[in-house]
Amino acid sequence: MSTNLKNPIPTPAAWRVPGRGTVNLMRHLEPASSGPRNAIPFNRIAVVGNEMEYMADAVRNGHCSGDGPFTRKCQDLLRRELNSGPVLLTTSCTHALEMAAMLLDLQPGDEVIVPTYTFVSSINAFVLRGAKPVFIDVRPDTLNLDETLLEGLITPRTRAIVVVHYAGVACEMDTILALANRHGIAVIEDNAHGLFGTYKGRPLGTMGAFATLSFHETKNYACGEGGALIVNDPKYVDRAEILREKGTNRSRFFRGEVDKYTWVDIGSSYVLSDLNAGYLYGQLEKFREIRQNRERIWENYRYHLQDWAVRNGVAMPQIPSHCGQAFHLFYLLLPSLAKRQEFIAHMKAAGIKSVFHYVPLHSSPMGKQWGEDRSCPVADERSDRLVRLPFYNCLSEADQARVILATQQFAVSSRLRHTRSSAVA
Ligand SMILES: Cc1ncc(COP(=O)(O)O)c(C=O)c1O
Repeated sequence: MSTNLKNPIPTPAAWRVPGRGTVNLMRHLEPASSGPRNAIPFNRIAVVGNEMEYMADAVRNGHCSGDGPFTRKCQDLLRRELNSGPVLLTTSCTHALEMAAMLLDLQPGDEVIVPTYTFVSSINAFVLRGAKPVFIDVRPDTLNLDETLLEGLITPRTRAIVVVHYAGVACEMDTILALANRHGIAVIEDNAHGLFGTYKGRPLGTMGAFATLSFHETKNYACGEGGALIVNDPKYVDRAEILREKGTNRSRFFRGEVDKYTWVDIGSSYVLSDLNAGYLYGQLEKFREIRQNRERIWENYRYHLQDWAVRNGVAMPQIPSHCGQAFHLFYLLLPSLAKRQEFIAHMKAAGIKSVFHYVPLHSSPMGKQWGEDRSCPVADERSDRLVRLPFYNCLSEADQARVILATQQFAVSSRLRHTRSSAVA
């Protein structure tokens, strides 16, 4: 099987880094163990710049705990590039969401609206404070929260709406924000997927009272485990610092604003180590190159799979024209659950790991505990059909060509194979 793409999306000149190659800008560490040598994983961490040097610097600086020089560099870079409120690095996106839930002072019985098609942390953080989840179905095109259903779910107890920009494609923020403002409800952007994506030109993560980011190793910009809370509503900034520092005013003490620090509120240990922040800074200072490289990978999938998809009744991601996507993942929607499972097995036989995504929360054992029998048919159906292809910063052209060819060799059915049918949207 040839491992070259016939017409790969060309590498723009802007990516040419002297002496570093172009497409292979992303250096990666060989995995230390396991797996056939030619297996293509779903994800692999890549070293794109000075990550290793910066971690060594953190050790040399004698500052490996949190809020050291690399934490400040990451926070400043993110705030500057996003033009957002203050950014606080945290140990994960999950923990940033927990901070948001604490900041809202939720009381037992308060309701939080959340898309059913998301990761557990999007709602678990609020349930931990006693809130009741109210699951909302998703749009068939972007798999984001269906804003047309929102109004019907708002009650006097609704305190927050969590929006998830799935795959780094923006939710319909104008409608959501207008509704939330009218009802005095906080909006939290779970932007685990969408760093540097935009909605009508506005950066994702700058529109809600809070936004959260993930730097887990599967994300576009990573440091193993890590996250951030962006505090766009100034009234929460001081308390956010305190909750993040175990309920103490230690941040003020470090700035010389108080002569000792003490316990002033609830809180927990949400500060990211400067070792991780060093790694993260190595990635963030190359964010433009990473984004462009991921755009190339995404476009190569789209370009080379579109005819196959149409022939086989497979749908590809839809990106509304007003959304500048973050190129977080590339998925296919197979015609049925059975076909999706067959596809995953077919790819596995070719040594390629492809994976499904969320199991809708409303149908999970925990999600059912609130006794609401709300159906979310779009999420159920899309969740059954969706499969994600390998997508990581150091995915080589040759490996991507293998993924594309293996995909093209999967015929959904002999009937569809020879009939041009429109993709199932
Ligand atoms: C939408 C969403 N929110 C939150 C998280 C949790 O991120 P973290 O692993 O940084 O806690 C994830 C993880 O993949 C996610 O997909």
